[in-house]
Amino acid sequence: MILYYSGCGNSRWVAETLAESLRERLLFIPDTDPELMLQEGEALGFVFPVYSWAPPHLVLDFIRRIKLKNRPSYVWFVCTCGDEGDYTRQIFCRALRKTGLVLDACFCLQMPETYLAFPGFSLDTPENAQRKIDAARADLPRISELIAKRACNHYEMLRGAFPLTKSYLLRPLFYRFIISDRKFHATDACIGCGQCEKNCPVHNIRLVNSRPEWQGKCLHCMSCYHHCPTNAVQYGKLTQGKGQYRGL
Ligand SMILES: Cc1cc2nc3c(=O)[nH]c(=O)nc-3n(C[C@H](O)[C@H](O)[C@H](O)COP(=O)(O)O)c2cc1C
Repeated sequence: MILYYSGCGNSRWVAETLAESLRERLLFIPDTDPELMLQEGEALGFVFPVYSWAPPHLVLDFIRRIKLKNRPSYVWFVCTCGDEGDYTRQIFCRALRKTGLVLDACFCLQMPETYLAFPGFSLDTPENAQRKIDAARADLPRISELIAKRACNHYEMLRGAFPLTKSYLLRPLFYRFIISDRKFHATDACIGCGQCEKNCPVHNIRLVNSRPEWQGKCLHCMSCYHHCPTNAVQYGKLTQGKGQYRGL
């Protein structure tokens, strides 16, 4: 079984690719009940993006609430990130420990950057985005093979400068002061098509009089922004002129 979360589609593509090569069931975490029925000997995998140098809160909350009918024979995750995952594994493992499970393997893939709602953050150049996708596509068969072989104590993670500071000090500050949907709005370019509502992974957008309204449980995944066909969704002035990532 593969449980995944994806905001803009990078992690969905990784999850779908692995589900196909490993012939695994694929479940989308926001729409899945944490009471899970595993088959005897079944492995349990997770795929998610790195948010603020860690797994997204939604993924950690889900892991803490997991109730399993059968113990998985093998536990793994693949995370996608723009640059690096830092202490994603340690934070994931701490949440996992509450369920009595142990992580056997993890992998980290660089994918195109999606986050723009902070000063200084911008999209990758098209060339760099394509380079990351090509490298991930080339690496996925190796990762799939290691998972299929049930490689144990196999931990791959990309780590940048000051990982402790980012994963443990800056992350809580980000969640406390930055992650909020108050600054999301639609400009006059909005055509009321509802793509933002349809593509919000946590159903946080409602169209009212053909205009999106954000409901206060946003993860800052930027899906509404990137999926808007007229680039009408903006986050304060921070996203102005930054362009959109159309995904794979
Ligand atoms: C809210 C948010 C926070 C992010 N934080 C990080 C980060 O700390 N480190 C990093 O390398 N990439 C970060 N990124 C980039 C994403 O991890 C990366 O683009 C990922 O592939 C997006 O996956 P998705 O399309 O499945 O949502 C962040 C993206 C978002 C939306």
